[in-house]
Amino acid sequence: QNIILIGAPVDSGKDRKGCIMGPDAFRTARLGDILTELGHSVTDLGNLTAQDTDIPEHDHLIALPQTIGWTRTLKKAAKDAAPKGLPIFLGGDHSLALGSVTGIADYAASIDKPLFVLWLDAHSDFHTPQTTASGNLHGTPVAYLSGQSGFDDFPIVSNPVPTENICMIGLRSVDPAEHAALANTDVEIADMRAIDEGGIRAPLAEFLAKVEAADGLLHVSLDVDFLDPDIAPAVGTTVPGGATLREAHLVMELLHDSARVTSLDLVELNPFMDERGKTASLLVDLTASLMGRRVFDRPTRSFAGA
Ligand code: ARG
Ligand code: MN
Ligand code: MN
Ligand code: MN
Repeated sequence: QNIILIGAPVDSGKDRKGCIMGPDAFRTARLGDILTELGHSVTDLGNLTAQDTDIPEHDHLIALPQTIGWTRTLKKAAKDAAPKGLPIFLGGDHSLALGSVTGIADYAASIDKPLFVLWLDAHSDFHTPQTTASGNLHGTPVAYLSGQSGFDDFPIVSNPVPTENICMIGLRSVDPAEHAALANTDVEIADMRAIDEGGIRAPLAEFLAKVEAADGLLHVSLDVDFLDPDIAPAVGTTVPGGATLREAHLVMELLHDSARVTSLDLVELNPFMDERGKTASLLVDLTASLMGRRVFDRPTRSFAGA
């Protein structure tokens, strides 16, 4: 496949800084080479910069003008890249998905295909600018991309992703306002308790079957805090009790088997908080699993014929 790496050093979505170093950490962990070794052709567009805006600073929302600038830049970059291959957005914090997903949604509409979104995260990121208590816009992208109101100075979302096309896996921190808003939607949710009780495979397989039946495009948005902080410490918003290494690789392998993934965000990596690069390397390994790295072609417990 043609893979297009898009550096998106977005650091405006929250007050703790450091995600600006994310794209270069992924490169340092050899993301491009590893994907090339898997047989893909890889183009790295380098790091983008946010458009300037004349929007004034907001007293509650952190770095609103910058995040709107990033949304414009990334929406266009996503629209341009999607017809040429599989874009991977190297974040950058999760506010980058305000642009990446809405740009991909415009592309999907232009080829008349439905877009599905898989949100791998500890958080639902379903705040609007009115409900966020923290003022951190990285907590808002799912509300925006699904067409909820209240995003006044942001680009108009012409192709909102229907909430029934969105699946969230890994949730373990949902604010009351998000909880209330999600209750009025058809977002598919597998929280950590559901995963503990029934495993991570079933909800994903169900969702992938829906994507397949609709012949849809699939955007995957992978927040570092989906993973347990013991294995992925390089993130500002750690929540204990996340996905294990094995669960995360299984998700990636099942996604690869589905052959449905058409775009990917790697977000919230804060290299300043990493331990000898282990989180960056883990994200690169997970991306490799998503893009086809495996030991055998299928689950194997006896060697013959495998
Ligand atoms: N819900 C919290 C907030 O609104 C945390 C959001 C965390 N989001 C993320 N992309 N890490 O601030
Ligand atoms: Mn999160
Ligand atoms: Mn909040
Ligand atoms: Mn997130």
